[in-house]
Amino acid sequence: MDRIPIWVLFILLIFLHITNSEEEDVTLSLIKFLGQLSNNQIDPSWGWNLTSDPCAGKWKGVTCNARLISVKKIILDGLNLTGTLDASSLCNAKSLGVLSLNDNSINEEIPEEIANCKQLTHIYVSGNQFSGNLPDSLSRLNNLKRLDISNNNFSGELPDLPRISGLISFLAQNNQLNGEIPQFDFSNLVQFNVSFNNFSGPIPDLNGSFTRNSFLGNPELCGKPLPSSCPQSPPPKKRSKGLSSKQIVMYLGYILLGLVFIIFIAFRLIKRNKTKVSKGTVVDGSSNKTSTASTENKSGASRSEFSIASTGSAAASSSLVVLSSPVVNGLRFEDLLKAPAELLGRSRHGSLYKVMIEDGMTLVVKRIKDWAISSEYFKSRMQKINQVKHPNVLPALAFYCSRQEKLVVYEYQPNGSLHMLLHGTQNGQTFEWDSRLSVAVSIAEALSFMHQELHEDGIAHGNLKSSNILMNENMDPCISEYGLMVVDNQNYISLTKGSDLKSKDQNEGGAYSTFKVDIYGYGVILLELLTGKLVQNNGFDLARWVHTAVREEWTVEVFDKALISEGASQERMVNLLQVALKCTNPSPEARPSITEVAVMINTIKEAEEGSIVSEP
Ligand SMILES: *[C@@H]1O[C@H](CO)[C@@H](O)[C@H](O)[C@H]1NC(C)=O
Ligand SMILES: *[C@@H]1O[C@H](CO)[C@@H](O)[C@H](O)[C@H]1NC(C)=O
Ligand SMILES: *[C@@H]1O[C@H](CO)[C@@H](O)[C@H](O)[C@H]1NC(C)=O
Ligand SMILES: *[C@@H]1O[C@H](CO)[C@@H](O)[C@H](O)[C@H]1NC(C)=O
Ligand SMILES: *[C@@H]1O[C@H](CO)[C@@H](O)[C@H](O)[C@H]1NC(C)=O
Ligand SMILES: *[C@@H]1O[C@H](CO)[C@@H](O)[C@H](O)[C@H]1NC(C)=O
Repeated sequence: MDRIPIWVLFILLIFLHITNSEEEDVTLSLIKFLGQLSNNQIDPSWGWNLTSDPCAGKWKGVTCNARLISVKKIILDGLNLTGTLDASSLCNAKSLGVLSLNDNSINEEIPEEIANCKQLTHIYVSGNQFSGNLPDSLSRLNNLKRLDISNNNFSGELPDLPRISGLISFLAQNNQLNGEIPQFDFSNLVQFNVSFNNFSGPIPDLNGSFTRNSFLGNPELCGKPLPSSCPQSPPPKKRSKGLSSKQIVMYLGYILLGLVFIIFIAFRLIKRNKTKVSKGTVVDGSSNKTSTASTENKSGASRSEFSIASTGSAAASSSLVVLSSPVVNGLRFEDLLKAPAELLGRSRHGSLYKVMIEDGMTLVVKRIKDWAISSEYFKSRMQKINQVKHPNVLPALAFYCSRQEKLVVYEYQPNGSLHMLLHGTQNGQTFEWDSRLSVAVSIAEALSFMHQELHEDGIAHGNLKSSNILMNENMDPCISEYGLMVVDNQNYISLTKGSDLKSKDQNEGGAYSTFKVDIYGYGVILLELLTGKLVQNNGFDLARWVHTAVREEWTVEVFDKALISEGASQERMVNLLQVALKCTNPSPEARPSITEVAVMINTIKEAEEGSIVSEP
């Protein structure tokens, strides 16, 4: 490290030069901004001059980050400023987070360019003489948390502020705003006041969050929580006869959509027939690992091309939380929305999309449906899970949450799932006994590790099943979607016949029972590995069937014919079956812990390996 190559110095110099000139640019812009704000009468004692630096020069009202490199806050409250807001100059300070100009006499409009201040979290312009419409671009400030425009002379309709899902405070009292109040996410807001404006129409569903004190002095507002109820069945406007042009457009849209859909299905059918003929690549499984099943998702999950955005998310705005992964650094929620998506599967709990983002990377996005937990809790839960790493558990790369929407992003695994391996198209390849046993061991160990690490937090997998076990590039099984679901396992409930059991378990609630649901899910995976049968198929219930079969003593009949013909040891298959039966015991208390399960299965695996060594 004693000699630095000359080219490094050269690059450093260029770099320094660039950053320097950028800062000069910011300095100039900020001075221009203050000039506009104060009618070009900048008080020299404030230090805002070209020969000093906004951060190092301690400009009045300016706060910078710890390293004094970028401007974070500009607070110029109550300073008799009488000019206008020059947002395009201001927003050259790219990292500005807080703008506070309360109690001055600033006039005219807030310019559209305010949206260039992308990092803004707080805007306070209360007590000025701003007028005109609020710019539509305001709704693109995705990081905005608090917006106070009260005590001004703003007019016109509100921009699409509910789009900003992180907004917690909106104060707009004492203006001339009109139009209807949009449906904010009121349960997220801690402050809301639109009193003394000229809003009209019904008050949106407040979900009990605010009282009439937030809506005073708007004579044309109606509905709860105001005493004036809205006119019943608002404007039917005699539209029943004949179609309005709007309706015609709408129906035309439906017809078009239908046509596109029919063409699409036809196209799919034709294509599927073709691929059926042309597909026949058998991957050779000569390595001791399992052979690759065709990753074609044939299990009926409808595949269709459409963007996630088109499936309707109003809050397509707030930011994606990227979990310390270099793979998707810089990935934005917008990128996900824009990228073409393919529906991989859909279930009661949500849908799964394959998404190709711009730089050619393929991701899987899990969209969770109807999970009534707060964003706060979801976030902390995801972060806790992220802290626990196991090579056989697929880590989430990023997640996104708003009240309506919860998305979790994973890296796409091209080799499909255990479900496909077991039940997918069998192109002549086999899934031998020792591979199945290895898979069982890997899953048990990974699950055991996760349960131990996350026991205190009460976070179990919640929805363990063969389609959530993905095969990575080495054909090792990886548990996916860990912790994305809270109890509510159909199979589990259907097997828990005694209602006393069920209610008892529910009373105990949360952690304990969820971990036991995982054990059940694991047991079912073992049954799938042993029988090669689908868990649920037209009323057939695998776990129940196996329990019955064993009780009736036709145990051998349950095993996958492929295993029998391969000559797998019946003794060890029966041993594994016994573990599976323990795991799927209808009574959660009777099920072993996953650590005990892992020990049992390892014993079977060791016996298998021992036999391979001893049998020539
Ligand atoms: C610029 O402001 C600094 C204080 O930040 C002050 O020391 C300096 O004299 C000012 N320069 C001019 C030309 O006003
Ligand atoms: C603002 O102007 C008023 C009168 O013009 C003056 O009394 C007051 O001190 C000024 N305030 C500031 C902070 O300069
Ligand atoms: C507010 O704006 C209206 C026009 O929209 C104007 O007539 C009125 O004078 C303004 N009030 C103030 C206090 O600036
Ligand atoms: C308030 O809005 C109504 C229409 O909703 C309009 O007729 C009225 O003139 C407005 N009043 C003011 C003071 O802007
Ligand atoms: C209303 O609040 C309840 C509980 O706070 C929540 O479950 C429900 O989803 C909310 N409804 C809307 C429309 O936000
Ligand atoms: C909203 O603002 C009005 C006018 O300033 C005030 O009277 C009212 O108390 C405020 N409401 C709330 C909930 O703070």
